[in-house]
Amino acid sequence: MGHLPRRPRRPPAARVFIIGFVKGGTAKSTSAFFIALYWALLGYKVLAIDADPKSQMLRQWAKKARERGYTMPFKVEVLDVDLRDHVKEALEDYDVVVVDTGGGDPALLHDGATIADVVLMPFAPSEGEVWRIPGTWTTVATGAEQNPNGVVAAFFMVRADHRTRLPRKWREEVENDKDENGDPKYPLLQAEINQGVFYIEAIGHVPAEVGDYDDLMKEVIEELKAA
Ligand SMILES: Nc1ncnc2c1ncn2[C@@H]1O[C@H](COP(=O)(O)OP(=O)(O)O)[C@@H](O)[C@H]1O
Ligand SMILES: [Mg+2]
Repeated sequence: MGHLPRRPRRPPAARVFIIGFVKGGTAKSTSAFFIALYWALLGYKVLAIDADPKSQMLRQWAKKARERGYTMPFKVEVLDVDLRDHVKEALEDYDVVVVDTGGGDPALLHDGATIADVVLMPFAPSEGEVWRIPGTWTTVATGAEQNPNGVVAAFFMVRADHRTRLPRKWREEVENDKDENGDPKYPLLQAEINQGVFYIEAIGHVPAEVGDYDDLMKEVIEELKAA
């Protein structure tokens, strides 16, 4: 099942994508899967590292998909001892590395930010998730300070249900939280991942397309060009 295009001659816009948020259940694993799939569908050689030992969601997802007869378009490995070493080694073999850092260990997200090209932090528009934005940002920002190459880091909204006022309400809250210079404290992408059965039912399967993650990655690529 599935057909992948030839490996492009052009290098990808970025190689190391770290997905994290310091809280469980914010669609990190789903996002890591779709971001890995995005690059794989373009023909790149992709590794997804499952760094959440408690849930091992990506590992299970790949296993289920293979049992169902899919050819996984990218490889999934469970994190070995050290995240930075694992990513560094992977870059010798893969074009793109996507890491699901899980929600339970801020140290992993911090370490990820030290080596990332891109850090993406998904949250749903609800108070309980927005509460964790400052802590997540501090974790990423302190890691990013040690990143010699510079990093694009941004939050994005998942499970946005526009039949409700929640996405707009929480976007305004986040965007209006300004520092002393009047700049927004927390970078928030315009692209949103809608609430949808498509994403729920994707688990354990390999969809032929990436839904709203296409717009998300295109916005990130624009951010990389501007950086
Ligand atoms: N866009 C979406 N719309 C609806 N449900 C979603 C969406 N993205 C993820 N989910 C669901 O949210 C739950 C948590 O997602 P998951 O990726 O496992 O989060 P995390 O890895 O952060 O714990 C799962 O049941 C998943 O199917
Ligand atoms: Mg997870």
